[in-house]
Amino acid sequence: MLFTTVVSSLLLAGSTLAQSTPAGFSPAVNQTLDVYYGTTYITPGLMVKKSTTAKQPTIGLTNVTLSGKYLLAMIDIDRPNGASRGTVLHALLQDFTPSGQTQNGTSILTTKATGPSSYFGPAPPAETPKHPHNYVFVLHEQPANFAVPAAHKNAVQTRMSIDWPKFIADAGLKAPIAANYLQVQSGDNTKRWDA
Ligand SMILES: *[C@@H]1O[C@H](CO)[C@@H](O)[C@H](O)[C@H]1NC(C)=O
Ligand SMILES: *[C@@H]1O[C@H](CO)[C@@H](O)[C@H](O)[C@H]1NC(C)=O
Ligand SMILES: *[C@@H]1O[C@H](CO)[C@@H](O)[C@H](O)[C@H]1NC(C)=O
Repeated sequence: MLFTTVVSSLLLAGSTLAQSTPAGFSPAVNQTLDVYYGTTYITPGLMVKKSTTAKQPTIGLTNVTLSGKYLLAMIDIDRPNGASRGTVLHALLQDFTPSGQTQNGTSILTTKATGPSSYFGPAPPAETPKHPHNYVFVLHEQPANFAVPAAHKNAVQTRMSIDWPKFIADAGLKAPIAANYLQVQSGDNTKRWDA
């Protein structure tokens, strides 16, 4: 199957297979999704200011020829939730396709979709001691007739407590093609909505 071939070569393409997801995040992904906020390139785990992340980033992949449609999720895995941590869905955007444009060697993927959940930038609340939030990006092949599974409609709408491994299973997604993550410090009060 063509897609399988593309993904296998994609997974082999990265010369360095450092993990592109934070410790403890499931599914773990090695292949890095290229994420740019303006000219700021996100290396996995980079801490950036809240103001840097106000607008939806540009995403894409290096050394890969892509076709078809892709689904992007961005998930905060550090929402304070009693003694533990919950998740916040910061974006779930469908219908990404290759744009034909490149940036810094990255083949850019674009979408006109603003859903199922539009992008909203990080704004982690202040905490003592400080606790940087990890925001994880995962890119999946988008199945034909993709729809948010019924069991996840509430989480997608409220953005609270999305369970991504379960979403993957229920939506019939394959393993992520690529991932990345950034950090924003708790209580960062750089302006959220300014360019
Ligand atoms: C892309 O391919 C070039 C040439 O093979 C290689 O030097 C580079 O490390 C690759 N980059 C990535 C991100 O895999
Ligand atoms: C990621 O890379 C490590 C080290 O090469 C490997 O052990 C692991 O199986 C890889 N994980 C995935 C999901 O490809
Ligand atoms: C270009 O991409 C590489 C990774 O492929 C990254 O290390 C570098 O910071 C990026 N540079 C710019 C200017 O975006």
